[in-house]
Amino acid sequence: MRINSPRMTVIYNACNKASRSLIRDFGEIEKLQVSTKGPGDFVTASDKRTEKIVIEELLKAHPDYGILSEEVGVINKENKDHRWIIDPIDGTFNFLNGIPHFAISIGYEEKGEIVCGMIFDPIKNETFFAEKGTGAFFNNSRIRVTKKNKLINCALATGGPKSDSPRKENIFEEYTKISRVVDAPIRKFGSAALGLAYVAAGRFDAYWEWELNYWDVAAGMVILKEAGGYIEFLEPGAPTSNKRNVIATNSNIHEELKGLLIKKNIE
Ligand code: IPD
Ligand code: CA
Ligand code: CA
Repeated sequence: MRINSPRMTVIYNACNKASRSLIRDFGEIEKLQVSTKGPGDFVTASDKRTEKIVIEELLKAHPDYGILSEEVGVINKENKDHRWIIDPIDGTFNFLNGIPHFAISIGYEEKGEIVCGMIFDPIKNETFFAEKGTGAFFNNSRIRVTKKNKLINCALATGGPKSDSPRKENIFEEYTKISRVVDAPIRKFGSAALGLAYVAAGRFDAYWEWELNYWDVAAGMVILKEAGGYIEFLEPGAPTSNKRNVIATNSNIHEELKGLLIKKNIE
């Protein structure tokens, strides 16, 4: 693994340690306790265990850094300049159903900007990571977004809607309409973090989803940018942590896809 900065090493070690129990839990999925946070929003004992290990490791390295993590919320809230943004399992629904497509996602935010991040898929043993200014990587290799410039030839992916979304029907409709426009099915693999990582790695040409949370996208933001992609949040003016509607592309097809999405949204 081409990790050569102290901060990336801290993140990698945290992911690696947490992944051991996560892999074990995935093998014994039927024994896991499950609770719900809201309609369709599951949290497993494994989300909590993974989060605990990740946080312990990160705090060991930097006891004073702030943390925003999906299940426990905020730690060291006075430190706003140095924060970890954590999703312990992105893709819990897949995890719960024994589908090997989920990841640990950790971003590091400095003075409001995500400057490094890692998306760690423990089952496929695939690690996507980047640090601002030094490129994006997949395991040992440098990654770049695709060069495709026509939507019709593209692999598009999305996610959602959440079961309690007020825009649920519109989102389903939009999905069907865009599928028709590009004359191809749109992929929905169930992990927003891996969706962004896959655009960065050139597996997808674009990923979009509405009503995400900051921890779903934090690491992906820097990985995608460092891979030459473009990520846009459709709430101009909102602070990054409140931006929830995401379009992430190889940058060449950005305007075409955005135009279509906005058009479909208001039709
Ligand atoms: C979810 C996944 C899913 C996306 C949801 C997210 P979780 O995260 O990223 O793909 O469609 O919007 O909430 O709950 O598995 O961490
Ligand atoms: Ca998530
Ligand atoms: Ca999660």
